[in-house]
Parts: sequence; structure tokens; C-alpha cells
Amino acid sequence: MTEIIFATENAGKIREVEAMFEGLGVSVKTMKEAGIRADIIEDGSTFMENAVKKAKTIAGYTKEIVLADDSGLVIDHLNGEPGIYSARYLGEDTPYEIKNAELLSRMEGVEETKRSARFVCAMAAVMPDGEVLQTEGVMEGIIGYEAAGENGFGYDPIFYLPEFGMSSAQISSEQKNAVSHRGKALRKMQKLLQNKLRS
Ligand code: IMP
Repeated sequence: MTEIIFATENAGKIREVEAMFEGLGVSVKTMKEAGIRADIIEDGSTFMENAVKKAKTIAGYTKEIVLADDSGLVIDHLNGEPGIYSARYLGEDTPYEIKNAELLSRMEGVEETKRSARFVCAMAAVMPDGEVLQTEGVMEGIIGYEAAGENGFGYDPIFYLPEFGMSSAQISSEQKNAVSHRGKALRKMQKLLQNKLRS
């Protein structure tokens, strides 16, 4: 069975990736399960630079395929903030209730047509021969007027999806996987990997 090591410690992301590779003869291991510990400084200027850096760093410790992603929320009215700094916005350990409240207050009074935002996910896989595969996924939406919903994580409660009439913390995880930035990037990566593994 082909093994992939997923370079993250985020339990929510691991579950999403495992579910997507289920039934494909691919087993997904976390860094912890693979016995790899590495502190990676995300100093790239784009989501993709950070994803490639994470994947390449972990690939230095193993001969397996390594998958990594970097994602975040881009708010147009705030010049793309929090963007690549999404996890670190107001401090890595600051609760998301506070981060979300701060973003809502920075968006106060902004009319609906100017509240556009998107979640972006860049994904990189490093193959055992060093080849790097890259995919990206985007989920478009708007910043809501208040936080809503208990599902998902991070900025989901303030990210409103007009096509659902709900925030991304109110839709189910299946619905989110079907339309999310990470789901899209993963499905593209799944196809690239399947073609590589078959050839
Ligand atoms: P990463 O682990 O460096 O990719 O950081 C991603 C950060 O972006 C997370 O900590 C969240 O703040 C935010 N983020 C990414 N994807 C999502 C999502 O699907 N929902 C809510 N927040 C997200």
C-alpha cells in the first residue's frame, strides 16, 4: 500500500485528508505517526511557497510521499488580511472568538458588495524522486455581520456562503468538503497522485 505522510498537526485537516484517500489503496500517516518532528518556519510570501517549504522539509526525513498544505482567509476590503498570516493573526494561541470579533469590528459599516473574501488552500506533494506536485483550491464567500455556527474551525463562523445561506460553520462537514478550498485542492492532488502512481 502506498503511504503518504501529511505534514500537519491539525487534527481537523488530518481527518479531511484521510477521508479523501479512503478506498484508494493509500494510507495517510501523520508526521507524529511517522516519528517525524520538525519546526518549520512559514516565511514564504505566498500560500504555495509555504506549502512547498513544509513538504520539502519533511521529505528530507523520509522516502515516502509527503503532502503539505498552507491555507488561510483572504479579505479583499482588508487588503488580503489575514492571508498567509491567518494562523498567526493576533497571535497563534489567541482564541478564534477574539480573532473573529476583531475582523468583524474591522468590517463594521462595510456594505455587502465590499465584504468579499475567500479561503485559499495551496497543496504540495513531494514524490520520492524529488518531483513536486502542486494544486490549489479556493472557496469564495463574504464576511458575515456576526459569527454563526459551531461546525468547522478557525474563521468558519464569520465566513458566509451565499449559495448555502449559511456560514461555513453551519454547513455539515460533508457539505464543506464538497465545496471547500481544501477539498478542491485535495481532489486535484488526488488525481495527480493517482496518475503518477499508475505510470
Ligand atoms: P495553516 O495550518 O498554516 O495552513 O493555517 C491555516 C489557518 O487558516 C488556520 O489556522 C485557520 O485560521 C485558517 N483556515 C484555513 N482553512 C480554514 C477553514 O476551512 N476554516 C476556517 N479557518 C481556516
